[in-house]
Amino acid sequence: MKNVNWTRRQILATGAALVALPKIGSTRDTQPMLTSVIPVSGEELPVIGLGTSRVFDVQSTPTEIARCKEIVALLTASGGSLIDTSPMYGRSEKVIGSVIAAGIDRSDLFLATKVWTHGKDSGTAQMQQSTDLMRTDIIDLMQVHNLRDTAVHMDSIRAWQEQELVRYSGLTHYTAAAHKELEREMLRHMPDFIQINYSLGERQVEERLLPLARDLGIAVLINRPFQRGRLFAAVSGKTLPGWAQLFAASWGQFFLKFVASHPAVTCTIPATSKPHHMIDNLGAGVGDLPDTAMRQRMADFIASI
Ligand SMILES: NC(=O)c1ccc[n+]([C@@H]2O[C@H](COP(=O)([O-])OP(=O)(O)OC[C@H]3O[C@@H](n4cnc5c(N)ncnc54)[C@H](OP(=O)(O)O)[C@@H]3O)[C@@H](O)[C@H]2O)c1
Repeated sequence: MKNVNWTRRQILATGAALVALPKIGSTRDTQPMLTSVIPVSGEELPVIGLGTSRVFDVQSTPTEIARCKEIVALLTASGGSLIDTSPMYGRSEKVIGSVIAAGIDRSDLFLATKVWTHGKDSGTAQMQQSTDLMRTDIIDLMQVHNLRDTAVHMDSIRAWQEQELVRYSGLTHYTAAAHKELEREMLRHMPDFIQINYSLGERQVEERLLPLARDLGIAVLINRPFQRGRLFAAVSGKTLPGWAQLFAASWGQFFLKFVASHPAVTCTIPATSKPHHMIDNLGAGVGDLPDTAMRQRMADFIASI
């Protein structure tokens, strides 16, 4: 479990005790993936998941399905579970359904998708379509995508939760321009999750949204942890500093561990189309997470280049 200070809601939800993290230099590769607690339920969620925007919007050829299945199999073999998708991501939900049909165990997955349309009937039709495309009976997390028609869809999601067709509710956005509106909607609807952009290149959520989520007992998924790949360009040609190699084996792990180590963050969802990048990203889910002083050093380093 991540070594963070829990909120009252979390402690009430779980009654569990904090578990100390292993010491630096311990056997990173053989450790189970770190988990965080979903405040509203006490359920543990592995800290690294998978985003599917663009990367799973592929044709359903045997080659493409096999590649996507390999990426998902790597995720589950490492103890990870969360896949984030949306009707906005073209063929991604269908590809996830094909990956499950090709042999990935549905019960190993935490399926998060979104409703992204206007109006109640259109929203429920879309939620049903997502359920069918992913060949599942229940969606683990249904999120209102980019706060589109939030009140209407939150009503439907709550109704689906009562019917046990959806387990958790959520609200998402991806840009700092929408953070104020997201804050208002969090307070208005008290979703189980929010999903927002956070990375070493976009740190605005540290000011208000992350502390607020923590205070309210709302789980947090992080999108764009690589700033959609821009962070890799920023460090292109640069070697990972020696002090960072104590807890990260790559730039990808450096970026992900910065995000995952924030106490309010529940799970981070980097997208990748490549199995070797998935392996790299999963490496950020084990071993030590940077403490406050190290996080500052990481941020200062990135700001200086
Ligand atoms: N409004 C919303 O709800 C919203 C908005 C944005 C994103 N999201 C969600 O968040 C997910 C993540 O955000 P994102 O896809 O925008 O961006 P991201 O995860 O920050 O970056 C993805 C990019 O990083 C590259 N990459 C991944 N792992 C790498 C590694 N280890 N080494 C080098 N490059 C690596 C990928 O390329 P390769 O394919 O070559 O690995 C891809 O180009 C999305 O897929 C989506 O599920 C939600």
